[in-house]
Amino acid sequence: MNLTSRGCKIAPMHRLIVLLLVSPSLFAQQPAGGTRPATKNLKLLAPSADIPFVMQSFTEALGVQCTYCHVQGDFAADTNPKKEVARKMIAMVRLIDSSFPSSTGAFPEGYHEVDCSTCHRGNIKPETKAPRKYYNRANSMGVPPPAQVPGSSLKLLPADTRVHGADSLMGEFRDALNVDCAYCHGGGKTQEVDINPRKDIARKMIMLVRQINAQFPGTGVYPVGNQAVTCYTCHRGDTHPASVSNRRYDLPAKQ
Ligand code: HEC
Ligand code: HEC
Ligand code: HEC
Ligand code: HEC
Repeated sequence: MNLTSRGCKIAPMHRLIVLLLVSPSLFAQQPAGGTRPATKNLKLLAPSADIPFVMQSFTEALGVQCTYCHVQGDFAADTNPKKEVARKMIAMVRLIDSSFPSSTGAFPEGYHEVDCSTCHRGNIKPETKAPRKYYNRANSMGVPPPAQVPGSSLKLLPADTRVHGADSLMGEFRDALNVDCAYCHGGGKTQEVDINPRKDIARKMIMLVRQINAQFPGTGVYPVGNQAVTCYTCHRGDTHPASVSNRRYDLPAKQ
């Protein structure tokens, strides 16, 4: 068990060793005895955490420098307000984590389906709208969608939610995951029928999106009103969103 998370920790270590062999001058910058400097002001991360790796993943996820959250020369200081925002984000990631059965350990230790990179993708502001619509073959042939009728089987979405056509909410589900309607419906039944387990996963996702947006002021209950996070924010056209835990690494370079 837990091979993936072990792999994640081993890989950067190998890279560090390679780096040190290539440029011995880097030794001069390492603290004496090779021990990490003691941390002074951790409120959420464990003192045993691999702080350089975690901080590097934060900067990559947001596409920023260390000083976006810290003040120059004092990493323990809390004077930069972005540091406190980042602490709230760590707490949010831990909350999101409880929705996924594969989760192991308290973020950033262990395995996590969702982390900073899942939403941020190298940007300070996560995206909420797919840049490209998903059109199926019928759409491409100009076949009009069925007429909109009030929902009859909806357990979460409001009855007047638009469910037909590329510009409906179901169309947005398609854009987010890059799949056609039957990926969550199908089975030769109408879409009101609950036959496909993915439909229930999607219902859990609607609840997750509501839970996440509740952390952001000025947002409505999904899908009504302004949304800070949507299906597209995590999925980005993929049925399985990306995270640091699921990143693939290369083997160490051959000597
Ligand atoms: C997105 C915001 C963010 C970025 C970017 C970031 N950090 Fe941090 N850093 C934090 C937060 C939040 C904490 C405190 C975590 C806690 O309270 O458990 C922290 C803590 C630290 C600590 C521990 C300080 C102490 O003594 O308590 C160090 C060292 C550190 N960061 C270094 C870095 C370095 C180096 C970089 C750039 C590679 C970086 N950070 C980039 C948010 C950030
Ligand atoms: C579920 C999606 C999601 C995840 C996961 C997430 N964030 Fe965010 N983050 C957001 C959203 C949405 C905003 C608000 C952006 C806006 O409206 O400006 C935000 C804002 C921020 C900001 C403030 C940016 C600014 O200058 O306004 C920081 C810093 C930040 N996130 C750090 C992190 C860190 C660090 C992690 C991982 C521990 C993380 N986020 C994980 C969605 C996410
Ligand atoms: C990612 C999964 C997913 C995809 C893709 C998807 N749906 Fe749905 N659909 C759902 C879920 C979940 C519900 C039930 C929501 C609820 O219970 O509130 C639903 C409900 C419906 C309903 C029932 C409305 C009623 O009257 O009760 C219709 C019709 C429907 N979808 C049509 C479509 C069409 C058409 C497409 C393609 C354009 C589509 N769906 C794509 C997940 C999906
Ligand atoms: C906070 C990030 C996040 C958001 C937001 C999100 N998802 Fe997901 N979703 C995931 C992750 C991670 C997985 C895969 C891991 C798992 O299912 O255990 C997943 C899996 C799924 C699956 C199962 C796919 C499969 O093939 O097994 C469906 C369907 C789905 N999401 C639909 C949605 C819909 C619809 C929305 C918007 C209402 C949404 N998701 C919003 C993170 C997210």
